[in-house]
Order: sequence, then C-alpha cells, then structure tokens
Amino acid sequence: MTLDFAGDERLQTAFADAWSRKADFEEGAAYMRGRFVPLSEATIPITDWAYRRSDVVYDVASVWEGSFFRLDDHIARFRRSMTRWRLDPPESDAQIHDIALAVVALSGLKAAYVGMDCLRGKAPRGVPSHPANAQNYLAVFARGFAWIMPPDLQERGARMMIAKTRRIAPEAVDPTAKNFHWGDMTQALFEAEDQGLDGAILLDGDGYVTEGPGYNVFAVLAGTVVTPDRGALEGMTRQSVLELCAMLNIPIEVRPISVQELEHCDEIFMTTTAGGVMPASELDGRALASTIGRQLRHRYWAEREAGWLGTPVDYEMSCDGGID
Ligand SMILES: Cc1ncc(COP(=O)(O)O)c(C=O)c1O
Repeated sequence: MTLDFAGDERLQTAFADAWSRKADFEEGAAYMRGRFVPLSEATIPITDWAYRRSDVVYDVASVWEGSFFRLDDHIARFRRSMTRWRLDPPESDAQIHDIALAVVALSGLKAAYVGMDCLRGKAPRGVPSHPANAQNYLAVFARGFAWIMPPDLQERGARMMIAKTRRIAPEAVDPTAKNFHWGDMTQALFEAEDQGLDGAILLDGDGYVTEGPGYNVFAVLAGTVVTPDRGALEGMTRQSVLELCAMLNIPIEVRPISVQELEHCDEIFMTTTAGGVMPASELDGRALASTIGRQLRHRYWAEREAGWLGTPVDYEMSCDGGID
C-alpha cells in the first residue's frame, strides 16, 4: 500500500523523501506546511495568532496496537471545529486522513498520541491585520501514547474534586469545538494539585456539571449512566461509552447533571482518548463505587484490542511516491 494523499503529488513526494530518512522520526513525526519533519523540528512562529490569541482548534486521536480508533470520526469532528472557528487549511479531509497515517508510519509507534491542529497563522504584510486575512495551516503529529491518568491510578480510582473555578460559558467559547482556551481547566488542575488530588470536575455558571481538564464526566445514578448534554466537548470516548452501554444493556441518559446529583451519585468516571474510561474512587472525600466504571473500562480496551472501529497503520508500506 502507498499513501495517495488524494492524488497530491507534492505530498506524495514529501512523504517519500521523509520515508527515505525514516530513522530521523523515531522520537515522533510531524507534518506542517507540506513537509514531514521530526517532532523536535515542528515549531510555530512566536507571532502566530494561534499562539498569541489561542486562535487554533485541534483534535487528538490515538493508535493502540498499531491501529487508529475512530479516525474518520476524529477528522469529522476536527473539520466541525475548524468550520466553527472559521479556519480553513489547504488540506482536505482525505489528505488529513493520509497525513495522520503517514506520521504514525514514519514514527513506527504502535501506541501513539496523534495531534491535529489548525492554526490561524497571520495576515501577510500589506493587507488589513484581521483574522479573515490570515493563511491558516495544519499541523499533525505523532508521539508516544500519553496517559492523562496512568493505568495504576485508574486501577486504584482517581480522587476527584469539584473545582471552584467555573467552566468558561459555552456562549462565549463553544466547548464542542475542541480548542485551547484552557485557562479555567488549568486553574482547576492547580486546585486539585493543591489538595493532593488526581483531578477536578468543573461546573457551569448555573451549577451543572460540564467536564474536566481533558475528559468528559459520567455519573451513575441508581444503575443509570448519565452524562451532560451540553457545556462539554462531544468526546469520542464519551460516544464510545454510550455505544458500549447500549451493547451491554446499561441504561443511559444524556441530560444536565446538577451538582447535587453529582454529590449523591453512586459512581463517577471520566473518559478521554488519552486514557480511555477512568473510574473515580472518591469525590471531595466521599468514597464512590466503581462497578460499572470498571466494567466499561475493561470492555473499552477489549473492544479496541479486537479492532473495534479501527484503521490499521501500514508500517511497512512501499513508498515510491514520485522518488526513485
Ligand atoms: C475538554 C475536553 N473534554 C473532553 C475530552 C475527551 O474527548 P475525547 O474522548 O474525544 O478524547 C477532551 C480530550 O482531550 C477534552 O480536552
């Protein structure tokens, strides 16, 4: 198999060139502005609005045992985030698909964190300095799989708290477009750190559960799995858990969760690409059960390892794209 990049010869040649220097990519591989480079060489200008104004959207997919999970779903969500933010890079979804496979194949990583960012760039000299005039561009990279909460912590169960910091209002920054406006979530991470805890859950301005720094939140109330219907990213792992619950005949509800319900629920678990299903063992010092959380955690990894919604990476591809 060769990667076709939707027939783009420039990309085929760039990839073939990188493939001939494959040893350079062992620490990770990145794609930026038409080139494949070792991860350490993927840098952005300090004047880029992506950096100066957090004017960037992103997505994170993962590779486990050499196979992507829900790759096309991630790319579709990435495109929705870009559209919501009025970002439009030159690459098509089909090209992003092949670029994601290419960076993983180049790195050789069988377990990888694959980031996809669309950056605003800057308006070129001589035109009004407005984001509408910026040249948007794509960055895609693969590095070793990263755990938000490592497996031993997940086994023990995360000690969680309800953060005092409230989540940014969804009317101000739409949380369904995956973005880097992380000021609220970073403060929540410090609140948890100050108390020696593992993670935090943020409420919205009306006291309803939203999400946490890098994860969606679920509560179990009298045997029903409940997750918020608004104020949070529509996580791919969240979606997978809803599908696993349907497979396992576990009742689910997608609806607002009040702080009082969270304070009295039986179980809490969190979900993310960088960790899967992560059961909590306590909330603000109150012990929690983790029967359904553990069942979903095990089933999630078992299904992934069986190839559920997977796109295998070809690590040995023949690569002749335009180069002898
Ligand atoms: C704020 C936030 N919520 C939820 C999630 C979980 O989404 P997914 O399951 O697609 O990784 C993430 C992932 O990074 C996130 O940053």
